[in-house]
Amino acid sequence: MNYENLLVEMHGKVALITLNRPKALNALSPALTAELSDLLDRLETDDKVAAVVLTGNEKAFAAGADIKVMKDWSYMDVYKSDFITASWERLASFRKPSIAAVAGYALGGGCELAMMCDFIIAADTAKFGQPEITIGTIPGAGGTQRLTRFIGKSKAMDMVLTGRTMDAEEAERCGLVSRLVPAEQLLDEALAAASRIAELSAPVVMMAKESVNRAFETTLSEGVRFERRLFHSTFALADQKEGMAAFAEKRKPAFKNS
Ligand code: HXC
Repeated sequence: MNYENLLVEMHGKVALITLNRPKALNALSPALTAELSDLLDRLETDDKVAAVVLTGNEKAFAAGADIKVMKDWSYMDVYKSDFITASWERLASFRKPSIAAVAGYALGGGCELAMMCDFIIAADTAKFGQPEITIGTIPGAGGTQRLTRFIGKSKAMDMVLTGRTMDAEEAERCGLVSRLVPAEQLLDEALAAASRIAELSAPVVMMAKESVNRAFETTLSEGVRFERRLFHSTFALADQKEGMAAFAEKRKPAFKNS
């Protein structure tokens, strides 16, 4: 898989995707997001891939959508092409587990991309923000919606209206990131988490992910009902039999993804 703006490396069953436009702080050009969407299509159907880690470099996860590309676009340009939904949202609809490993800047579309992953592990150097307001626009890839669900209205308003950045400690405190680690441990931590998930039953992991995501889309009672249906359906899987038998027999389960 050869891409101009991405690097892809397999670590066992984990695909490590590195955003690779370092000179532009990984600004998310249409070419980059199209490549990411194409790559995710391939990874989703590849049985050798159980999970994905998305990362950038020491200085930037991604400093946002590419402002130099966007600056001259007209209303009709963005409206007609429905900029930006399809290629960006591919990550949000990816069915396998995804972890964002963030060091340095995750701004604007970079923060939005990280929030489309299932969870975010941050280096102590990470800085998150939705600075679009400072360049005369607003977040356009789910920032106002996902950030609000992550950190609540007051903090989301603060970030979106002032455009300020939030450091990694604040991001952990308010629930934007799940783990905060020293920068030099970031990739090891993210790959270990993804590898742990990759050892588990793939269909059960997908059901768990689908069920948590449902919490953002529905009422509590409907969500609980949805969860119960998926919970019941795990009992149709050989992996549920294996998992519980292994517990009773005091051995490690050998899941077969069936
Ligand atoms: C295009 C970018 C860029 C971006 C950085 N660069 N961010 N190019 N789009 N979003 C480029 C710079 O132009 C520069 O290129 C090089 O990367 C290094 O950046 P510097 O600014 O010189 O670095 P530094 O002084 O360290 O400042 C880092 C920074 C700053 C604070 C992150 O680059 C910055 O404010 N970037 C923009 C952040 C932003 O507003 N993001 C939101 C974008 S709008 P040259 O060629 O000059 O060396 C958005 C909307 C999403 O994301 C909507 C949904 C799709």
